[in-house]
Amino acid sequence: MANVKFYFGENVPLEMHKVRVVQKLNILPIEQRLEAMTGAGNNTFLLKNRDVYLDMLTDSGVNAMSDNQIAAMMQADDSYAGSESFFKLESKIREIFGKEFFLPAHQGRACEHILAQVFVEPGKVVPMNYHFTTTKAHIVACGGSVEELVIDEGLNVTSDCPFKGNIDIDKLRAFLQEQGSDKIAFVRLEAGTNLIGGQPFSLENMAEVRKVCDEFGVLIVLDASLLADNLHFIIEREEKCKNMSVREITRAMSDLSDIVYFSARKLGCVRGGGMCLNSKELYLKMRELVPLYEGFLTYGGMSVREIEALTVGLEETMDEDMINQGPQFIASMVEELKKKGVPVVTPPGGLGCHLNAMEFVGHIPQSLYPAGALGAALYIASGVRGMERGTLSEQRDENGNEHYANMELLRLALPRRVFTLSQVKYAVDRIGWLYENRSLIGGLSFVDEPKILRFFFGILSPVSDWQDKLVAKFREDFGDSL
Ligand code: F0G
Repeated sequence: MANVKFYFGENVPLEMHKVRVVQKLNILPIEQRLEAMTGAGNNTFLLKNRDVYLDMLTDSGVNAMSDNQIAAMMQADDSYAGSESFFKLESKIREIFGKEFFLPAHQGRACEHILAQVFVEPGKVVPMNYHFTTTKAHIVACGGSVEELVIDEGLNVTSDCPFKGNIDIDKLRAFLQEQGSDKIAFVRLEAGTNLIGGQPFSLENMAEVRKVCDEFGVLIVLDASLLADNLHFIIEREEKCKNMSVREITRAMSDLSDIVYFSARKLGCVRGGGMCLNSKELYLKMRELVPLYEGFLTYGGMSVREIEALTVGLEETMDEDMINQGPQFIASMVEELKKKGVPVVTPPGGLGCHLNAMEFVGHIPQSLYPAGALGAALYIASGVRGMERGTLSEQRDENGNEHYANMELLRLALPRRVFTLSQVKYAVDRIGWLYENRSLIGGLSFVDEPKILRFFFGILSPVSDWQDKLVAKFREDFGDSL
């Protein structure tokens, strides 16, 4: 049933699914958590999952699959070429997105690789609402650059703007005018804008972007990886779309785009990715690269089992009960943290709850990676693993200078249908404790800094003995408790 919000009590979201398969979890004592964090070079990417209680690193590839998705995996047609599983997916993509051609890829960044190889060359620019790490890395690797044109409000950490992921239309027009369309590879719109806190754009804004791009003859590429969250917010926050179905809004967004690509690690709750479009000419150009980098055209690096599950997962995404769960849990977490005075990104977005490290640990300068330090501290205090989305996730410029991020966020992802509300409450409780003791948290500095995507495997160390002090305070307050 459309537009029914399932809440009871004080904004408690109600799950429209039940848990039928579980995985045992473990909480290490705090001293062992400190050891694990030290062993991981203070980088949450390098922790072993067995040492983590709540894995809120990402929603990528870790969403809970449905019974029907798992059942579909059993029917996979194992074949290198011409697998029936692929044709089912292709036909589901046509039905949902209304695009004729579909190219599979092993994940979202593989699509970005192909798009960058085909459209970007030295000197070309890709205007977008906001960059994502892998997107920018591929564009830059091809000699291009990124121009971020998100509305100013998008960079205000606390706001009541419902669509902080919108593009500033005046800035877009002025930029295209100044550069000339020849210099523009394409305009990229990222649904559920990841790095500014999972913030959506409106359908109205997208229609305006289309108008401007048509004036200049420029392509629009939609990154639909976080489409599910964006769809939820359009239905919830955009007056004109209140009575549209998920399917209608998806189709409208796709119709406004020339190319749609996605990470199926997020969209569709599996592992994989793909690109769809109507232009045969562009399809043929992009197609050449799929067998080269991904695999044959009927699997593109995905297993046929994942392809079957994706077909079902995309269909399930067209259901409000499914797309509401993540954002509703996130909103509930954000509200509880706000009650404790913890600085968070507002309004609540998709993907996860985002702590504002710039304020949480305002005493740590950006040069000592406040969001990374907060991530290390939170793991030590709770066993909860988050992801730094701040300066550590940026790249130094060609002269080796640090590029300070607009926002210093610690993202606590809520993979879809994975955690219970009591687990979310545990995280809230420990974050509250950490906030009360925030003055104990100190900065981090690099011991080993990779040149590209350094946040994945960089090794850092605390700039003082602040982590020992944090453990001592924990023992004082919590006694023998884990
Ligand atoms: N686009 C967006 C908006 C993403 O959030 C991601 C991945 C990608 C593209 C790349 O997709 O991982 O399948 O290659 N985001 C993950 C995250 C990594 O944790 O936010 P991928």
